[in-house]
Amino acid sequence: MKVSIIGGGGLVGSCAAFALQTGRIVREIALLDVNADLCAGQALDVLHGTSALGDQIISAGGYEHIPSSDCLCITAGLRRKPEESRLDLIHRNVDLFLNILDGVTKAGVKPTATVLVVSNPVDVLTYLAADRLNLPANQVLGLGTQLDTIRFCSLIADRLKAPPTQVRALILGEHGDSMVPIWSSAAIGGLPLEKFPGWSPNLAHELFARTKGSGAEVIKLKGGAGFAVGAAIADVIHAIALDTRKLLPVSSVQTGCYGIRNVAISVPTTVGRGGVMATHEIEFWPKEVQALKTSANTLRQTVETVVKRIGLTKLK
Ligand code: 2OP
Repeated sequence: MKVSIIGGGGLVGSCAAFALQTGRIVREIALLDVNADLCAGQALDVLHGTSALGDQIISAGGYEHIPSSDCLCITAGLRRKPEESRLDLIHRNVDLFLNILDGVTKAGVKPTATVLVVSNPVDVLTYLAADRLNLPANQVLGLGTQLDTIRFCSLIADRLKAPPTQVRALILGEHGDSMVPIWSSAAIGGLPLEKFPGWSPNLAHELFARTKGSGAEVIKLKGGAGFAVGAAIADVIHAIALDTRKLLPVSSVQTGCYGIRNVAISVPTTVGRGGVMATHEIEFWPKEVQALKTSANTLRQTVETVVKRIGLTKLK
């Protein structure tokens, strides 16, 4: 499978490329970026590692890569300032993102290609991508709260000295301030998190708050996140590449799951070769379902402000 990363010269895009390289699953990784030199440098740096890491084709270039790509990962966009919310970014990133979508359409995207949106605000931009691209909506997904979920699990494991890969603590909703922790299913090694030694309601509150603020925390410390975002991206793209049908909290345009419609948001989603293979309305605590609906309403309000200015072509 060939993956083209639009924004491959940047921190997130280059970390995604490296995560896909170390994952050794995709056959080809192309980095695309308006900053040609930076993009070529990132690609060369990744290529230098191929003899140690895997038999993959690494390249850099422009939209000439689009027609032969099986998966497009869009990471390009302005980064927010620490005090800025992801939704605040919308007015600076929409026009840039629409240009990218136009370029993809003009270059000719494969009818079977999947598109993974990472640029922020990811849920709103995923909605726009599903609207503008000439692809079935299920082939357009957003990284959504996959990143928040792996951060949440990692922070819980770090505090409880538990094995990170055995921590299951899901976050759904907006990849942003209204994200929702799903405590009702949280577990470590199949054991209820709330019964785990050292766990408490205060710790739950503290670690969820830290997870929600993790993007801003990393921006403040090092200018922006890269490694964990790359790992989250690779998780999703590997599920597509291998058709694993993994259940992942990714963002996509909803058509009724939990009563949510006309917005892209993260719900339990089966991810496979065709992108979103199914969504699942699993029973949560009533307050969790309500928080998910509230998150969807928050996102819908932003979509409506954007749509007032740019209009929609397929969606409403
Ligand atoms: C983050 O949370 C970039 O939105 C991404 O770091």
